Amino acid sequence: MTTVLKVCFTLYLFAVVCGGHVHGVSNGASGGVYDVTEYGATPGSKDNKDAFVAAWRAACGSTAGNATVLVPAGTFAVGAVEFSGPCKNAPVFVIDGVLRPCIGGCHLSDDAWITFSALTNLLVTGAGTLDGQGGVEKNKPKTTTLELDGVANSTVRGLRFVDSRGFHVSVHRSSRVAAEGLRIHAPAASHNTDGIHVGFSSHVRIIDSVIGTGDDCVSVGPGSTDVVVTGVICGPGHGISVGSLGREEGEEEVRGLVVRNCTVRGTTNGLRIKTWPGSPPGMASNITFEDITMADVANPIVIDQSYCPHDRCGDDADKPSLVQISDVTFRRIEGTSSSKVAVQLRCSEERPCIGVRLDGVNLRCGDDQPCRSQFANVRGAPALEAPAPALWVPTDQDARPAPSDTE
Ligand SMILES: *[C@@H]1O[C@H](CO)[C@@H](O)[C@H](O)[C@H]1NC(C)=O
Ligand SMILES: *[C@@H]1O[C@H](CO)[C@@H](O)[C@H](O)[C@H]1NC(C)=O
Ligand SMILES: *[C@@H]1O[C@H](CO)[C@@H](O)[C@H](O)[C@H]1NC(C)=O
Ligand SMILES: *[C@@H]1O[C@H](CO)[C@@H](O)[C@H](O)[C@H]1NC(C)=O
Repeated sequence: MTTVLKVCFTLYLFAVVCGGHVHGVSNGASGGVYDVTEYGATPGSKDNKDAFVAAWRAACGSTAGNATVLVPAGTFAVGAVEFSGPCKNAPVFVIDGVLRPCIGGCHLSDDAWITFSALTNLLVTGAGTLDGQGGVEKNKPKTTTLELDGVANSTVRGLRFVDSRGFHVSVHRSSRVAAEGLRIHAPAASHNTDGIHVGFSSHVRIIDSVIGTGDDCVSVGPGSTDVVVTGVICGPGHGISVGSLGREEGEEEVRGLVVRNCTVRGTTNGLRIKTWPGSPPGMASNITFEDITMADVANPIVIDQSYCPHDRCGDDADKPSLVQISDVTFRRIEGTSSSKVAVQLRCSEERPCIGVRLDGVNLRCGDDQPCRSQFANVRGAPALEAPAPALWVPTDQDARPAPSDTE
């Protein structure tokens, strides 16, 4: 420690302001609290971005460790902002207030509103709310509320998200990230407002969260490996999805997803894997959905390899997908379907699905009616272990078309 730091540190212990900024709330032996209001942030509609960044820089540069950036109670406007590392020790970022994008005069890109990038051991938490103030209109920019980009060994915990303009949380190019105890809410009619999206990331955990939006509660995109989703209560929305896959040439695979102990309620889809028609080669493998309760879900179990929202596929619409789906298990899936077709496995004629297992799927489709199911291009019959007798009346009747949603 340099002499200067020693002096600051000593002063700090006496709760004297050091460098004009660190104020005297101790957070462990060496931590400091960097309250954004001490950097000029004020509640209201003025863009507080510069104050937030100044507090972040000071905390990120702190060598003492255990620094905390604090957004206290109050409603703060902030424009698109990036909190980037590397930091000596990543601060804890506590949001106790409400954040809103500033009104007029500041630009929210199509990209993300609040980004944390190039950081290790970050914790973003608090009792606060990130309010994207998105609406249900269709052609607005799809701005992600909170993006983690290039983040490792980090956690987002306990925050509330409402009305994003795009995805609420996006985990991108990151590793060992946990999202825990989040509450995410947007109108059922808001477009592309996925709850949590994972892409190009590994070892991601999504735990004990309540998510209801106008799109997928959780979506797992290309380049995702070892993703575990547990204790999620999903609805309204489009369910828990893998994909969509097969948009890009050379797309990275999805490998190793477990969705366990979740409840899906009042959604258009339940558990779904979706790939575009006419797509280049790709892969999705080792995917397990187990111990899932469905309530009033229109399409509880779906593999859709000709997924084409908004009819945007042109000439590709009738071409098969080249995304290979393999080793997919649906185990102990119980509850109710609001349509007559509980299971739709519509795989690619060029790449039939391999190793699909349905084990203990027990769904009801209303008034003692047997549920229907629809299979196409599933190599071998799906392995049916302990099927519920009511379910397995395979027919080739058309299932309800999948609704439009995220690309
Ligand atoms: C930060 O605080 C934790 C718990 O209070 C403590 O174990 C750790 O050593 C501290 N780290 C630093 C760098 O002071
Ligand atoms: C993250 O944690 C893992 C396991 O604890 C460790 O092996 C890895 O080096 C850490 N990564 C970084 C970037 O610190
Ligand atoms: C299952 O998820 C619920 C939240 O929906 C949680 O309260 C419960 O502890 C979880 N059970 C297990 C066995 O993980
Ligand atoms: C499948 O994925 C899960 C979750 O990532 C992982 O724990 C398991 O080891 C994988 N199994 C195989 C055979 O790769």
